[in-house]
Amino acid sequence: MRDYIYGYFGISVEGRRSSKPALLDRLQSISGLILALFIVGHIFFTSSILLGKDAMYAETKLFEGTAFLDKPQPIVVSFAVLIIFSIFILHAALAMRKFPVRYREYRVLYTHAATLSHLETKLWIVQALSGFLMFFLASVHLYLMLTIPDKIGPYASSDRIYSDRMWILYALLMIMVIVHAMVGLYRLYLKWGIASDPNPRRSRKVLKMVMITAILLLSVLGYSALATYMRIGYEHRESYGERYLPGNGIVKGDME
Ligand code: HEM
Repeated sequence: MRDYIYGYFGISVEGRRSSKPALLDRLQSISGLILALFIVGHIFFTSSILLGKDAMYAETKLFEGTAFLDKPQPIVVSFAVLIIFSIFILHAALAMRKFPVRYREYRVLYTHAATLSHLETKLWIVQALSGFLMFFLASVHLYLMLTIPDKIGPYASSDRIYSDRMWILYALLMIMVIVHAMVGLYRLYLKWGIASDPNPRRSRKVLKMVMITAILLLSVLGYSALATYMRIGYEHRESYGERYLPGNGIVKGDME
């Protein structure tokens, strides 16, 4: 127990500093980077619905492995979800190390953020809060994607979003994940990139602008896609469960 507590704070039993915290820090940054890049790709992928049902259908089949398999296999999606879910859990577990655990620590952090008007501290609080909420919201989504990967498609996804009321969860998760990912990338640069930057002050200013612009653009894209899924789900509500077939056709059951 004593070894564990000492190790957690980066001190060996003999009193020497351990290299474990640096390693864990690096792991947290790498897992965060992978997830942030994944999220940017994910927003573009789900936005294929903006190009039409056929575009989203074709993309769904591609993710089911049609590029290298004879016929679509939804298990390929489950496999990808398993990898992302594992990285997500690892990232959250590593981040929890830095959460204030006692009320007194919260007070210190709160007072620090309020009195210093220090952007970086405020951004850390935004990260911690959005990350905490995302752990619950994203887990529901990832569990569904893991267990029913065959129920993804222009109608299946829209039915889930509109008729199964998943839009509530997605609307909340969307802003959390966009802000968390973009603030995360900004903080990653401050942590690892700024030391070798010849003009850190200017870079920080530019990066802040890039971060805000990216949050706005991704939000417009993500919420437009969500609204489109909702419209399709609404129009399709009487035929809930019916699956989409390209070329405006419809197929029943799991033929999609
Ligand atoms: C490999 C892992 C993932 C897969 C296969 C996946 C798949 C999908 C699919 C197919 C949709 C469309 C709606 C639906 O069918 O229910 C969707 C929407 C969404 N996903 Fe994921 N997802 C994954 C990971 C994540 C993660 C890690 C997050 C956030 C932490 C996330 C956040 C969202 C949000 C916010 C939406 C609504 C987006 C929109 O309507 O444009 N997803 N996802």
